[in-house]
Amino acid sequence: MTDPKIIVALDYQTSDEALEFVKKVTPEKCRLKVGNELFTAAGPELVRTLCEKGFGVFLDLKFHDIPNTVAQACRSAARLGVWLMNVHASGGEVMMRAAAAALAEFPSRPLLIGVTVLTSMDEAQLAGIGMEVSPLDQVKRLAALASRSGLDGVVCSAREVQAVKAAAGKDFLCVTPGIRPQWAAAGDQKRIMTPEAAIKEGSDYLVIGRPVTRADDPLKALEMIETEISAAQK
Ligand code: C5P
Repeated sequence: MTDPKIIVALDYQTSDEALEFVKKVTPEKCRLKVGNELFTAAGPELVRTLCEKGFGVFLDLKFHDIPNTVAQACRSAARLGVWLMNVHASGGEVMMRAAAAALAEFPSRPLLIGVTVLTSMDEAQLAGIGMEVSPLDQVKRLAALASRSGLDGVVCSAREVQAVKAAAGKDFLCVTPGIRPQWAAAGDQKRIMTPEAAIKEGSDYLVIGRPVTRADDPLKALEMIETEISAAQK
């Protein structure tokens, strides 16, 4: 089976818009991320449809609740057939262990990753919620905790990959958004990295939205990014 490194963020408001885009790409070229915006509008039916079309689906719902509730939510997601899903690592070890144990019941279980510190949180925002710690130290701490709790990896900035792998091990997956090929507009992303640089930093999967979803020819955009990734892997 192919293992595409690109996860396209399906940031659309409706199922129809998402499916219109999906017609233009193939499961061999990319995986698909369904986040809170699309899931809240289109629901599990769309996720099931994407899985049935053969796409690896990253269900990006960032669960954060008591251990039993998160474990049950993980089971519901696994039944949809998703490839990857996530929980907030700040939900703590017991919650993460419950999530990992729930998924272990499935014969071909989804991968489970943690959200460490949201990139919208800076040092001042962390202090505001009572956490006197630098974002990077908190990322390292939560990555190590996620690894000990049985998670497969984290979502992080490509700039944090080396620190995360040092804290949690080289096989611990790093899924990185904030990726911009040189030919694409940055949009609202501030701390960006090219696909080539992100792969060289050790990113395992790249979350890419607008450079592909807004391209005139999404398949061509994917192929250009793929070429860049292959060059970086040599
Ligand atoms: O269009 P773009 O490539 O900026 O999309 C990036 C995707 O990754 C969006 O779905 C965004 O919500 C998500 N994301 C991010 N930064 C994070 C976590 C998730 O950009 N720290």
